[in-house]
Amino acid sequence: MALLPPWTCVLVACFSASLAGTSDVPDPYPPLWKMSAGQFSDYRVENGKYIIDPWVYNERMGMYKILVNKTASYFENIVANNDQNILWGLPLQHGWQYRTGRLADPLQRKGCGYESGDPLCISVDSWWADMNYFLSALPFLAAVDSGVMGISSDQVMLLPPPKDQTKFCLNVSSCLSSFPETMSKWNTFYQHLQDPSSSFEDLLKYLWAAHVSSLDYASRIFEDRLEYYSKPEADFGRNWCVAVEYLAASLFPTTLVRTYEYQKGLPPRMLVNGDRAPFIRDFTVFQNTVLLVLSKGLIMTLTFWENEKKSTSK
Ligand SMILES: *[C@@H]1O[C@H](CO)[C@@H](O)[C@H](O)[C@H]1NC(C)=O
Ligand SMILES: *[C@@H]1O[C@H](CO)[C@@H](O)[C@H](O)[C@H]1NC(C)=O
Repeated sequence: MALLPPWTCVLVACFSASLAGTSDVPDPYPPLWKMSAGQFSDYRVENGKYIIDPWVYNERMGMYKILVNKTASYFENIVANNDQNILWGLPLQHGWQYRTGRLADPLQRKGCGYESGDPLCISVDSWWADMNYFLSALPFLAAVDSGVMGISSDQVMLLPPPKDQTKFCLNVSSCLSSFPETMSKWNTFYQHLQDPSSSFEDLLKYLWAAHVSSLDYASRIFEDRLEYYSKPEADFGRNWCVAVEYLAASLFPTTLVRTYEYQKGLPPRMLVNGDRAPFIRDFTVFQNTVLLVLSKGLIMTLTFWENEKKSTSK
């Protein structure tokens, strides 16, 4: 630890912050968790298929709720409740996006995602929403495909967004053919999940490999969306992708409480022009520090960290 450069130390401190214990976590669940669909029968059925609209917050969140529920049994051997399910990281991150206004129309046109308009609407113009599609629809459909959801592959169909339909796959077969590499990484994760000999660390490794693959694809497809944002927010989005690679490399355990704790360091609202960490007055010290670290030489520390891991594991 003493050999690591200062930024790495800050990051490690930030992200491995506080396993303060489950007891003082008030409500770690994402917004509207209770009112989101929790089983397939909560969705509409047409021609024998469940129809899910991933452009409505509680319907997209419902896919996560089913996913976390259906995978709970694979984690029971670790702790007797579902808190240790490493799939919690995905719905919690989506909840943060919703709470901070990041799923709303960045151009503020028709009220998609705004209190005054349609608050549950997820905008297809939102960079965060589009990135998240690859971390919700794909893991969900891959789970269906790998058999952990208990329905067959042709039994579920997602509704397309109002525009740019060709950028999004809507069912198992079209996702497999459009994004074979990423779907295969998610499938690999579910295969290992179902294999009782997989360790917790193995599962984190396969989960993060799939996560990074989703982000790599999506960040190339949706790069242009970042133009809709203030410079600090667009920079944060780009830096965030790098930070995720760091979290992946360190096999950050995306359990319920660990994710909830680290999210306290994320910006509690969208960044606007003039926001400059560590001097953002309505942000906590933790939030300012994380933002500052993300904006400075993280790539270098990431490389350093990976080398460090490689050399110590020899
Ligand atoms: C999964 O969902 C079912 C049906 O809603 C519920 O009865 C069950 O307790 C849930 N399991 C877990 C681990 O949350
Ligand atoms: C999957 O969606 C595509 C369009 O995206 C459609 O052409 C195809 O029929 C659908 N397949 C199934 C099995 O529903």
